[in-house]
This record gives sequence, structure tokens and C-alpha cells, in this order.
Amino acid sequence: MKRSDINEIMRSADVFIRQRGFFLPPFAYWSLDDWRDKGSEARDIIENQLGWDITDFGLGDFNRHGLFLFTLRNGRPENWETRKGKLYAEKIMIVGDGQVTPMHFHWSKMEDIINRGGGNLLIQLYNATPDGQLDEEHEIVLSVDGVTRTFKPGEILKLTPGESVCLPQYCYHQFWAEGGRTLVGEVSMVNDDQSDNRFYLEVGRFPSIDENEPPLHLLCTDYERYYKF
Ligand SMILES: [Fe+2]
Repeated sequence: MKRSDINEIMRSADVFIRQRGFFLPPFAYWSLDDWRDKGSEARDIIENQLGWDITDFGLGDFNRHGLFLFTLRNGRPENWETRKGKLYAEKIMIVGDGQVTPMHFHWSKMEDIINRGGGNLLIQLYNATPDGQLDEEHEIVLSVDGVTRTFKPGEILKLTPGESVCLPQYCYHQFWAEGGRTLVGEVSMVNDDQSDNRFYLEVGRFPSIDENEPPLHLLCTDYERYYKF
């Protein structure tokens, strides 16, 4: 992705998020110069990969296959072993009309996906087989806002504004919006985007970036280049 496109997506996302009555924390707006002035007090942001996260899944067409995310809070994966520190995470995402996040599941993370307004969020569902394929035989049983519902393999769940679903581990999901750009929340167990995403087809979780202009704000994958502690 071009850095100029990422900067533009950030500007546009910021407007949309505010329009929907949601607000990002102060560090979202730190400039490159602000980052250069930060010391170890900003460690939590870097170590837990908080902040801006914009991806085209390495497929080169953000509007067709892409996702805007901002990680608001998170802990480290090892917290599960020690039972210390943060064991939960929260993200805010924007899903465009027809913009697909490719089919994937998580080995460790259980996540609630919440439609926070805009259009509808459509989620296609499969269980994963023990060898990581799409299970075409067994129904998927999920809690949709506390109500147990059963889906056929490949069935599409529609979440209208305000609705949410709890996706357990090993539940394949692919999603997109219809009827307009949609603000989507994620409340989950600790999030580890380095090693807890199993995509059905091989895609990249983070984009490669053509640095054609300076970053407006740092992506969560930029910290190691710009911030030394
Ligand atoms: Fe997911």
C-alpha cells in the first residue's frame, strides 16, 4: 500500500468514527515528532501493538479486500500463562460496503464482533476441521447477543446495528458490510496478530508499504522504526 493512501484512510476513518459518536484515545493523534519525544512511558502502546492498523491483506486492493482497525487495548499472549496483566483486548474497525476480510479463524482468541452502526455486517461461518479446512458437515452453534443459534456450514449471519456475535476459537469467519460503511467493535481475549490468525487462503496480515510520503500517524507496525526505548 502507498503511505499516501494509508494517510488518507486514517483521515477518512477519523471523520467516520467521530460521526458515529465514537472517539479514539489521545495517542492516536501523536505526530512523528511527538513519538520522538516519548520514552518508556509509551511502552504499553508498543508492546501490546495498540493503535492504527490498516491492511489490504497483501492483495493490493484495499476496497475489495481490506480492513481498517484501531486497537484500543490489549495484553501480551504470555499473560494467559502467568494469569497476570491484561487478558482482554478491544478494537474498533471499519468495514466498507462489499469490503471483505478473508476467511480465517483464531487458535487462541475468542472474540465478540459488534455492529456499532452504519450498514449491516455479514459474516460467513464454518467450523474448522482438525486439519484446518472448512468443515462442510457440522453445524456451527454460536451465541448471538446471548441467544444460542445454529448455522449451516457456509451460512451468512447478518448483524444489524447493535447486534453482536461471539466467535469461539476454530470458528472460520469472513465478513463484509452491506448497505453502507459500518463501524464494528471487537471485544476479545488477548490479541496476537503475529501468530493467532489462520487464514484459509494464504494472505498477509500486514501490508507492505511504499513510503511515498511521511506517515500522518504511526501504524502499530511502524513503532520499531520510529521509536527507541
Ligand atoms: Fe477474527
